[in-house]
Amino acid sequence: MLKYEDKIKKQLNIQRDSIVKPLPFPFDLNYFTETGLFLTSCPQHGKTNMAKWVVDYLMRCGWIVKVFDPSKAWLNSTIPTYQSVDNKATWQRLINPISISTVFDVARIYPQWIPEFCSLIIQQDFELISHLPYLLPWNIAYLFEECQFSMPSGSLRGTKYQEVLRVVSLGANFKLRYLAITQRPADTSTKMISRTGQKYVGCFFEDNDIGKLRKYFNWKQKEAWENLSSLEKGEFYYGMRDKIEKIETPLFTKEREPQYLEKPSFWKQLFG
Ligand SMILES: Nc1ncnc2c1ncn2[C@@H]1O[C@H](COP(=O)(O)OP(=O)(O)O)[C@@H](O)[C@H]1O
Ligand SMILES: [Mg+2]
Repeated sequence: MLKYEDKIKKQLNIQRDSIVKPLPFPFDLNYFTETGLFLTSCPQHGKTNMAKWVVDYLMRCGWIVKVFDPSKAWLNSTIPTYQSVDNKATWQRLINPISISTVFDVARIYPQWIPEFCSLIIQQDFELISHLPYLLPWNIAYLFEECQFSMPSGSLRGTKYQEVLRVVSLGANFKLRYLAITQRPADTSTKMISRTGQKYVGCFFEDNDIGKLRKYFNWKQKEAWENLSSLEKGEFYYGMRDKIEKIETPLFTKEREPQYLEKPSFWKQLFG
């Protein structure tokens, strides 16, 4: 007899093989399940657009996706629900269902509070998952938009980043994976970048950013500058293991309005 989890897995595999249309650019789901994804380019070069394709695909494969978004770029995507995050006093009022994909709009809080908010959500999920007698029958992907705030350079040793570090280093054992997106790789944790199995690198002109990225592609600084500075919007170099490929990502057009999720306040619960 198949275990419950195996049954669900089997169903998801059947769904993946027969129904889920593949992405229009290279992306290895099995490898993503083991490692993570890193996506970077200078601003306005199609990072969020590409990530919307990946997120949509993950959800169609049965994944739950939770986005931490300081940029308001996820107001429209195919993620079904949306919550606006305000000052700390209201964080406990937020709903964090383990089985619903959600965008947490953190644009209204200071960047320095973002790691703490991400930790709160990850901690809530981890508490639940680690106490279950079996692993969750689905995977969860955290998307860190503008991740130079949630995992800056050298940060993952720090106390307030321990939940993020746990996802990055141990998450795969608990079916928790991550997509990290940034316009500023020079300011982003190397610990995290080096653990991602699939990297998509778009247009850059800045020497520090190029210097940090070039070693993942075994490029010299000049070669890296020439390759990256000539990329157009939506074009990326895709790196996976020892493979490097130049790819194009089409415009994502399936966006729709999300539903706002909010737990009713104490007074609303009392008086309707
Ligand atoms: N592949 C693409 N083809 C055409 N337009 C694109 C493409 N990717 C993004 N855009 C457009 O470029 C703008 C910036 O894209 P976005 O994904 O938000 O960039 P980033 O996240 O890198 O700042 C958006 O208006 C988007 O519609
Ligand atoms: Mg963006």
